[in-house]
Amino acid sequence: MPIPLGWEVTHDFTTPLGLLSDCHRRVERFLDVLARVAAAAREGVAHAEYRSALQGALDYFQQAAPRHTQDEEESLFPRLRAKASRDDRAARAVEIIARLEGDHRRAEIAHAQVEAIGRAWLASGEVAREVLDRFTMLAHELRALFATHIPIEDQELFPLAAKVLDAGEIAALGREMAARRGLS
Ligand SMILES: [Fe+2]
Ligand SMILES: [Fe+2]
Repeated sequence: MPIPLGWEVTHDFTTPLGLLSDCHRRVERFLDVLARVAAAAREGVAHAEYRSALQGALDYFQQAAPRHTQDEEESLFPRLRAKASRDDRAARAVEIIARLEGDHRRAEIAHAQVEAIGRAWLASGEVAREVLDRFTMLAHELRALFATHIPIEDQELFPLAAKVLDAGEIAALGREMAARRGLS
């Protein structure tokens, strides 16, 4: 069962809004991996064949994805909130942000369950049918959540941010995102 784990990065920390969208492509890819691993297990594919794909997806959502949420909630959203009282586009962005933060909390709850089930599954090499049913449901729930969340960010919020934030603020956003990953 070939599960591609590669991706194409097209932006860097000097274009942080583009970099945030690049992260979305990874989120989509690893959510797809979770769903495909679950489908393979249901079809009776041997654990060894999807083990590394499962581990890669769990590692991504445990280690890298939380930094993406921090990029948004701690670096991007506050800069838009700060301008909401004097810029109508920023005020519109703040309305969108309220919904996005709710999505983040729902996703965290589902990801915590995926993590618990997935790690136990990796450790034992097996998963009970009802637990696999739960994992499958969570993977589909997360895909549905991000299927609406990501387009709102890519197509509405980030374009608004590109208009509202000045070059200095965009540069500061990129520096904070780099620092979050231990880069200067
Ligand atoms: Fe995002
Ligand atoms: Fe988000």
